[in-house]
Amino acid sequence: HMHAMDAMSHASHQMEASATSVTPCDAIRAADTQAPVRTFEMTAAQTALKLDNGKTVEAWTFNGSSPGPELRVTEGDRVMVTLHNKDIEEGVTIHWHGVVVPCSQDGVAGVTQNAVLPGEEFTYEFIASQPGTYWYHSHQMSSIQAEKGLLGQFIVEPKQAKAAAAQDIAGLMQKLDSSFVINGRTKGLEVSGKPGDTVRVRLTNGANDTMEMAVEGAPYRIIAMDGNDIHEPGLLDHTNFQMGAGQRYDLLLKIPEQGTAVVRSLTEEGLKITIGEGAEPVHSANNILFDFLDYGTASEDDPVDQPTFDQTFDLRLGQNLFVNTINGKSFHEIPPMTVKEGERIKITLTNEGGGDHPFHIHGHTFRVLSRNGEALRGSPVFLDTILTKKDETYELYVLANNPGLWMAHCHNLMHASMGMSMMLNYE
Ligand code: C2O
Ligand code: CU
Repeated sequence: HMHAMDAMSHASHQMEASATSVTPCDAIRAADTQAPVRTFEMTAAQTALKLDNGKTVEAWTFNGSSPGPELRVTEGDRVMVTLHNKDIEEGVTIHWHGVVVPCSQDGVAGVTQNAVLPGEEFTYEFIASQPGTYWYHSHQMSSIQAEKGLLGQFIVEPKQAKAAAAQDIAGLMQKLDSSFVINGRTKGLEVSGKPGDTVRVRLTNGANDTMEMAVEGAPYRIIAMDGNDIHEPGLLDHTNFQMGAGQRYDLLLKIPEQGTAVVRSLTEEGLKITIGEGAEPVHSANNILFDFLDYGTASEDDPVDQPTFDQTFDLRLGQNLFVNTINGKSFHEIPPMTVKEGERIKITLTNEGGGDHPFHIHGHTFRVLSRNGEALRGSPVFLDTILTKKDETYELYVLANNPGLWMAHCHNLMHASMGMSMMLNYE
């Protein structure tokens, strides 16, 4: 077992330089030997990628593409992914963003493993226990490596689909060099299908900035956020939504009888998915903005009806001239949140400015309790990454149920590398 302080100083290396020697923070949990095994080979390499707009990008890829392969497994599968590094000097890792894995499989260079150097390999192993839309990215100098292209989508399909959609599409948005792409394309995706068919669209924001999204030509539902189902999601129309960096939104819509439905980014031209045949819908200028505070309905399964807490933490996210901070300190100086297994934790998160701060906690799913003192009135919302805007305060509930050493940081990875990162450690 390594000590928290070591982890912090090691972790700081992944922000600035390649990691030095690290002991894994936790043994791999006994694998469920009954579970079907899904194996994948992933090779990280430098690749000159030619985009559909004619530009060539010096990218870093998994298996020759960025995003890397879409990995789809079924709930309960035992997932084994062997990562190889061909020629990325600083080494690479794979972090399974949002997937609750044992700490040793979390892929954080300098904390849970050493970065995988050229010619080396590392096999990740975990049970995909939670269905939903996730993604993966390198967590060695992640602000550089994710931006260079070392990322992809990871989808866990439910064992028993409640209502399977006729089509299930995943779209990962990222910035490659100076181009914004969805599944690697600057000109968007085109999906055909029968009018009336239901389509599930799994969106991932793999860029560093907030994306404002619109759905045109069909009413839609937001059925999941960060892989977690919304309870009884209502029908939305003329409603945009904002995705913080690192977040996922799953949409459900029907292919219209005439023309197409379009899911598009209003932030970046060309980032769109056109579904169906025929004319594109007219672009609406006065859409309202989606708010999860009163979306869906309360659920009986909600574990935190009347929350009580064993520990509370206050985190103020801020930006000085060149430094990004939590409680006025930057990474090396920020004391970890230290918890015990089984504790119920409340985190109060305040954005004190400097931009949007989409805050991500590794290894855990948290329930959003309130924003600016207002409790959620609709569905409980469970996230692994929460978009915070200037002057907003969120209260989050986390059950400490996954022992280890975990990072918690802004998923504007530039902010994270400039100090807005800390640890959540178990005693
Ligand atoms: Cu998606 Cu610590 O990252
Ligand atoms: Cu930030």
